[in-house]
Amino acid sequence: MGELRAKIAGTGLGIPSKVVTNFDLEKIVDTSDEWIQTRTGIKERRFLDFDAGESLHKIAIEAADEAIKNADLDPKEIGLVVVCTTSEDTYMPITAGRVADAIGASNAGIYDLNSACSGFLMGMHTADAFIRAGIHKHVLVVAGEALSRALNMKDRTTCVLFGDGAGAAVVSATEVTDPENDSYIMGHRVYSQYDKDYSLAVLGGGSLYPPSHPDFGTKVDQIITMNGQEIFKLGTRGMARAAKDVMTECQFHPSKLDWFVPHQANIRMIEMVGKLFDFPMERTYVNLDRWGNTSAATMIVALAEMNRDGKIKKGHNVLLDVFGGGFSYGAMLLRW
Ligand code: COA
Repeated sequence: MGELRAKIAGTGLGIPSKVVTNFDLEKIVDTSDEWIQTRTGIKERRFLDFDAGESLHKIAIEAADEAIKNADLDPKEIGLVVVCTTSEDTYMPITAGRVADAIGASNAGIYDLNSACSGFLMGMHTADAFIRAGIHKHVLVVAGEALSRALNMKDRTTCVLFGDGAGAAVVSATEVTDPENDSYIMGHRVYSQYDKDYSLAVLGGGSLYPPSHPDFGTKVDQIITMNGQEIFKLGTRGMARAAKDVMTECQFHPSKLDWFVPHQANIRMIEMVGKLFDFPMERTYVNLDRWGNTSAATMIVALAEMNRDGKIKKGHNVLLDVFGGGFSYGAMLLRW
């Protein structure tokens, strides 16, 4: 009899149709393809085409459908549907309700989870806990963003960074008899540090500053504001700490890592964290050149792409690592 643990059993992708290149942005704000590529590594990102009927829940459903098929699972067996997002469709109905209904997960509990860019990691943290406690056998973790809706297209310091997208993972119970080789989530660490200076914020649109508030549209708005240099510093430090702690706790040597799959915010941050542990770039998955920063979704979009393309294989050791708004940060070590 092995130990009850959790593993990723299937993944899926939800891809918005509109491709927005750096050259497209050059026409809107005072920026250049050269600046964006050199400072961030981003070449293009995808935006949802709301005029054509696209939305966050549509790409979330697309990702969820593919993940269920990939896991070969009857949706009625799913115990929990968690949608991780900072840019939900509406306060209510919650996005997880739309997803559960569309995929036929009629026996599942549902909730949306907002941990900004750490959304997918926190969703996985939750799924692992429910499964190891024996409460659920299958949890669907979807992470998606429609952050194009929260961008100030006049602010070149933020509008070039973010994109829309969704990914989904079916997390299922598994019995681990051989901890050195079996597929399972080996460990995770999560942390917080309150962002009291609002270094990464969307202040308007919530209950503190609703559209009816006198300051809405003047002093605060429903748009991303950011102190980029501060986030760069804190993010690099936070991701390094989380990666180190989770590997130490799992008694895992960095040289055994097959894939470093970090949050896709900035190529320079990824390289700096990778260098600390000697993760070579060939074993670091980077897709921010095509997606930009899709916040909660970056790491599951990466995993789903890698799975679809056959890059990630059974037995591969994978490290997820993220820092984002809140601040909320953490890392997860798993074997595929
Ligand atoms: N195009 C052209 N110039 C730009 C620009 C753009 N899109 N955005 C900023 N600049 C300018 C600035 O105005 C500044 O000009 P100045 O020197 O005349 O004042 C100059 O470029 C340098 O700005 P700076 O902020 O020092 O650049 P940077 O090297 O720190 O890069 C970020 C900026 C935002 C790319 C970088 O700080 C970053 O990636 N931070 C982390 C952000 C992040 O990951 N956020 C999400 C976390 S989940």
